[in-house]
Amino acid sequence: MKKILITGGAGFIGSHVVRLFVKQYPQYHIYNLDALTYAGNLENLKDIENEPNYTFLKGDIVSEELMHQLFQQYSFDAVIHLAAESHVDRSISDPLSFIKTNILGTVNLLNAAKNIWQDNYEGKLFYHISTDEVYGSLGETGLFTETTAYDPRSPYSSSKASSDHLVRAYYHTYKMPVVISNCSNNYGPNQFPEKLIPLAINNIKKMKPIPIYGKGENIRDWLFVIDHASAIDKIFHEGTVGETYNIGGINEWTNIDLIHKMCEVMDKKLNRENGTSASLITFVKDRAGHDMRYAIDSSKLMNELGWQPSLQFEEGIEKTIDWYLENESWMNRITDGSYEKYYEDQYEKR
Ligand code: NAD
Ligand code: TYD
Repeated sequence: MKKILITGGAGFIGSHVVRLFVKQYPQYHIYNLDALTYAGNLENLKDIENEPNYTFLKGDIVSEELMHQLFQQYSFDAVIHLAAESHVDRSISDPLSFIKTNILGTVNLLNAAKNIWQDNYEGKLFYHISTDEVYGSLGETGLFTETTAYDPRSPYSSSKASSDHLVRAYYHTYKMPVVISNCSNNYGPNQFPEKLIPLAINNIKKMKPIPIYGKGENIRDWLFVIDHASAIDKIFHEGTVGETYNIGGINEWTNIDLIHKMCEVMDKKLNRENGTSASLITFVKDRAGHDMRYAIDSSKLMNELGWQPSLQFEEGIEKTIDWYLENESWMNRITDGSYEKYYEDQYEKR
């Protein structure tokens, strides 16, 4: 049985990846390693937590000793590395925690894997999950491709760029089998409500102001999280070692148009008069160093591996809004902090 270590599996994207692998591959044992920071929530995995091919490991990738110990103990065959500090605004106020987790944590994992794999790399893979933000900021035209020069501009994107370089360095220097993917902005169920889409849904529902940075003209390319998980599945199984794959939604929106679209959908769902939710839009001070536009060319992944996003944005945003409206208790437990007790109740009191 293949033993796969997924890091950051209690977070937004990680929980969808863990679920997909646990359900789709009973021949794999999935180990979910997560420090359960503010962004990690085991409630995201309630439906699969008792599956026989799933094990949760609580641990911090910044601990070099723990990483070596876990690799010695479990002899993982592959790693899908998602654990990271992921929010740009937090990286502006606290860069150091991004350096620790995203850079040091990644090197600790690489070293621990190298330590047990280096005599025979056959069948091993270190898959590093990264972001399109490493490429910097686009003007009105153009797309990021796999050969676009790195030009990160926030502490978050710089720390992710650094980790990408280190993963490539282990491929070239130590011949470690690695693969990297760089994805655009994700949206969908279980996203922590500090990111634009869940934050806006929560505020619209509660009739609170929707904060838009600057003039709302910045552009992001949005991908449904389930489609990111399916791309990760494809790349993990069919990607070429040493290669990089860009993943994107071919779905660019200015922030202000995106919020107007969401307001329209939510007015209908909440039986509000058209325009009620949009009246909550409030322009606030811009983010420092705010990247203007991200847009991804994913033709390599589409042409070489045959991946396609499964749905159009209109459908994805409706599904997402429905999920948040139907899972009010998930949001309430996050916003009142009680989700953090879930681990204690589920694991420490057992
Ligand atoms: P998230 O913040 O929702 O989840 C991160 C997870 O990592 C949490 O469960 C957290 O507890 C865990 N974690 C953080 N520090 C840790 C540490 N030191 N040790 C162990 N676990 C730790 O993030 P996300 O949005 O799900 O992003 C997952 C990955 O995908 C990240 O590497 C991110 O850079 C990348 N990514 C995200 C997006 C996006 O739009 N969210 C887009 C492209 C790439
Ligand atoms: P975010 O979800 O933080 O993702 P990222 O910064 O990684 O792209 O932000 C998406 C866009 O929305 C970005 O241009 C910043 C903007 N934004 C707001 O206008 N208001 C907000 O409250 C937040 C969180 C983001």
